[in-house]
Amino acid sequence: MQAAVIGVGYWGPNLIRNFLGNNHIDKVHVYDLNPARLEFIKKKFPEINIVKTEDDIFKLKEIEIVVIAVPVDQHFALAKKALDAGKHIWVEKPYTSTSEQARTLNKLAEEKGLNIFVDHTFIYTGAVRKMKELIDSKEIGDILYFDSVRINLGLFQSDVNVIWDLAPHDLSIMFYVLNKKPIAVVANGIANFYDYENVAHISVYFENNCFAHFHVNWTSPVKIRRMLVGGTKKMLLFDDMENSEKIKVYDSGIEIKEKEGIYNALVQYRIGDMYSPKLIATEALTLGVEEFISSIKERRKPLTNGDDGLKVVQILEAAEVSIKEKGKLIAIQN
Ligand SMILES: NC(=O)c1ccc[n+]([C@@H]2O[C@H](COP(=O)([O-])OP(=O)(O)OC[C@H]3O[C@@H](n4cnc5c(N)ncnc54)[C@H](O)[C@@H]3O)[C@@H](O)[C@H]2O)c1
Repeated sequence: MQAAVIGVGYWGPNLIRNFLGNNHIDKVHVYDLNPARLEFIKKKFPEINIVKTEDDIFKLKEIEIVVIAVPVDQHFALAKKALDAGKHIWVEKPYTSTSEQARTLNKLAEEKGLNIFVDHTFIYTGAVRKMKELIDSKEIGDILYFDSVRINLGLFQSDVNVIWDLAPHDLSIMFYVLNKKPIAVVANGIANFYDYENVAHISVYFENNCFAHFHVNWTSPVKIRRMLVGGTKKMLLFDDMENSEKIKVYDSGIEIKEKEGIYNALVQYRIGDMYSPKLIATEALTLGVEEFISSIKERRKPLTNGDDGLKVVQILEAAEVSIKEKGKLIAIQN
């Protein structure tokens, strides 16, 4: 198979390296609007083929896969052209700028029998796989809350606010591990420096008294990448800043006991052992590329597909509306 990567800024080179490293890929073609980036990338990966225009990619029959790693406001136009040209597409997160665009692409791919892979990279990490395993096996019990913090002195983006930049990671993890349908979103945020918010808090409500919260910030002096999942049996911490013990499982919980005739509830804490499970160390993008290629060969949807991309975009869109309306509750249509 031959693949083409469009956009080789910060993230594109990682994609080139992983597509080149896959046994099923014979050749990788590359295009970027910026000639200096093309010159740089050719020196880094001499085996790639640089094309002169994006149309060269769409016209070349041998190219089956088009990888789109340009800023989000350009995902839709390139993705649509690639699908129209009969290519399977890999689209970076966040999938599209609007849910309408995501629906259009998903429908087009369905009609043409093409695959869409949305790069929700974290789903392919050992840590998130383990979180899913622990939740699915019911070791954590029923999920009470999901609480995520992703903050640091981040790179201000020229086209999107902090939620479109950072929250797709956490939202994609939330959808993957919880496997629940959200019913509403509330968000607050502030734009201190230019038009786009640099700090935001997003709350996602589910049925059955379950709730998720996300704190994203480009202006924090400390880098925190933490996710806490509280269950009725145990609690789980994912700390991505840890080198070895990224996941910790706490045998802690709370029980409410009411004494007969006494209305005051008695809160009892259970503080038991903690353990840190062993995680698969394979690079997430390597597994993502494998999954995408297998899905094409097996004629099935990949694990992170256009439907998953749409779910994340719906929450981002609702959060943006809520921020503009100072934290109004926005219902999510499933
Ligand atoms: N999955 C992840 O963990 C992850 C990490 C970082 C970035 N991303 C995503 O990757 C995408 C790119 O982000 P980045 O940080 O690499 O951005 P970037 O600005 O560093 O690079 C974008 C590149 O695309 C080129 N470009 C822009 N428009 C183009 C067009 N129409 N045709 C061809 N080339 C074009 C630019 O010249 C630039 O070289 C974004 O969607 C971003 O959200 C994903």
